[in-house]
Amino acid sequence: MLKKFVDRLPIMKTIRPTGHIKNVPFYELNMQETFQKLHSDLPPTKVWGYNGLYPGPTFHVQRHQPIHVLWKNELPDRHFLPVDTTVHGAEKHNPEVRTVVHLHGGVTPDTSDGYPEAWFTRNFQKVGPHFTNRLYTYPNHQPSTNLWYHDHAMGITRLNIYAGLAGMYIIHDQEEKRLNLPCGPYDIPLIIQDRSFHKDGRLFYPSEPDKPETAPHPSVVPDFFGDTILVNGRVWPYMNVEPRRYRFRILNGSNSRFYRLTLSNGTPFIQIGTDQGLLETPILVPSLILAPAERADVIIDFSTCVGESIVLQNDFERKGEKPDPETTGSVMQFRIVHSLSCQDKSSIPAHLASVPKLTQYQQNRTLRLNMRKDSYGRNIHLLDDRLWSEPVSETPKLGQTEIWTLINETQDIHPIHLHLVRFQILDRQPFDRDVFEKEGRLIPAGPRVLPDLNERGWKDTVRANPGEVTRIIIPFGPYPGLFVWHCHILEHEDYEMMRPYLVIR
Ligand code: C2O
Ligand code: CU
Ligand code: CU
Repeated sequence: MLKKFVDRLPIMKTIRPTGHIKNVPFYELNMQETFQKLHSDLPPTKVWGYNGLYPGPTFHVQRHQPIHVLWKNELPDRHFLPVDTTVHGAEKHNPEVRTVVHLHGGVTPDTSDGYPEAWFTRNFQKVGPHFTNRLYTYPNHQPSTNLWYHDHAMGITRLNIYAGLAGMYIIHDQEEKRLNLPCGPYDIPLIIQDRSFHKDGRLFYPSEPDKPETAPHPSVVPDFFGDTILVNGRVWPYMNVEPRRYRFRILNGSNSRFYRLTLSNGTPFIQIGTDQGLLETPILVPSLILAPAERADVIIDFSTCVGESIVLQNDFERKGEKPDPETTGSVMQFRIVHSLSCQDKSSIPAHLASVPKLTQYQQNRTLRLNMRKDSYGRNIHLLDDRLWSEPVSETPKLGQTEIWTLINETQDIHPIHLHLVRFQILDRQPFDRDVFEKEGRLIPAGPRVLPDLNERGWKDTVRANPGEVTRIIIPFGPYPGLFVWHCHILEHEDYEMMRPYLVIR
């Protein structure tokens, strides 16, 4: 077993523009295969990274300052992880290695959004049916928040992200600057991911389900849980911190794993932001649940912890089981040093931002989250019982607000994400599964529950619990066009839990 807390937490470097096109900063990133040390006792691991870095470099952009990005693929022709050619989009007639980049949470026109079928191969030799242009533009008109960019190629997203294709994208603005939150070296992004390794340091990803039965080989798996936890691309790292306040922008970048984070000495997190920006007020949270793709912007105050070592722990219970504190129950360690390098002049204002509550809407859509068996007896997760290839069924009008009522008929929590938009969570309510199954009628089996205090801000990913109806309210815009919505458990997303949606004029 790998030793915990022996490597220092890496901080991703900031990507700089290479030039300007008509005053708009221009960035270029190349997806490359490299070998990287992920733990000091492991030989270098083959990974795919943006500019050869896993995780990719961090973007720091200013609100209202658009940028251009040229995403290039310089990857080999063969994948080093098991591609299942029975999965839609990954069939034998398609190139094995395809990439397309999506800025998760970005309010981006569809031609730059990274539609799964807008993929391209090495040097743009081949492109997917929905490919439109090479140069992407991110308008950055949205308020300050923590986004992330990651691969989104049809049928192999789980493998491309697992190989390392993900990074942070931070939007800054004046309103946030005025708050005087911890900044500079005291403002740190944390990307949490789980991985498994072969003894020789290679990444391990299963090539068939636990019960292979008649599955093809290789086969997609129902979900993936690694046995080690990495932060910013290092296995169980530690970080020396001063006895003062820090801001951490935490992202769950894992394929399937959920986390419930706590600090081992009982210090609470002070949450200041969600997926899509600042909360109205800071919220004291003793534990923090993060589904794949969810983000939390938090402050941790180490000022009373001089000399301590605090472990960031995970105790998210899955199917009645808690993670082992010796392995996946640990995330990283903070070592609080004795002295401050300068006085902590940061503050945590009582009011952070205004988050007007949405109530008016024009349309209500009821959508099922359900499951079928495929011809091999494998689970195939669906949105509203439809396959990816079926015609577009969700067609909100530009500028209109809709309530989406998500009925989760399955046994899993599905983190549901919509491209383009930000939304608010209205409530969650259990329903009578039997009646729904037999008669299709929705009968509540308990009260409506408001979202957690730290979910009452703008979101782009929502946890839809099994046996519950989750309602979200979504203003559609500001761009018309073709986008997607999907479950962000990558093994679900790749195996049919993703649908196109069209914002119409
Ligand atoms: Cu982060 Cu379509 O996803
Ligand atoms: Cu997205
Ligand atoms: Cu799912």
